[in-house]
Amino acid sequence: MNEPNMPQKKPYVVELKADQPYLYCSCGKSGNQPFCDKSSHKDTGVLPRKFTVETDGTYKLCGCKKTKNPPFCDQTHKSL
Ligand code: FES
Repeated sequence: MNEPNMPQKKPYVVELKADQPYLYCSCGKSGNQPFCDKSSHKDTGVLPRKFTVETDGTYKLCGCKKTKNPPFCDQTHKSL
């Protein structure tokens, strides 16, 4: 598997809706961060991650692509 790109060294703060399926960009190349743009990951060997949240709200999605709890920021970016 290829190393993902790091679009930014901090999380993306986004509003998410409960039970709506989202596709998180895992390759770091999407032009629609932090979400998959359905084309940039091709040939990277890295697939997007489908996820949902249980409640409407504001979430921090990982922008460094190094989190151990994707798609959510786990503060790993602070040690990069
Ligand atoms: S932005 Fe990646 S762990 Fe925080």
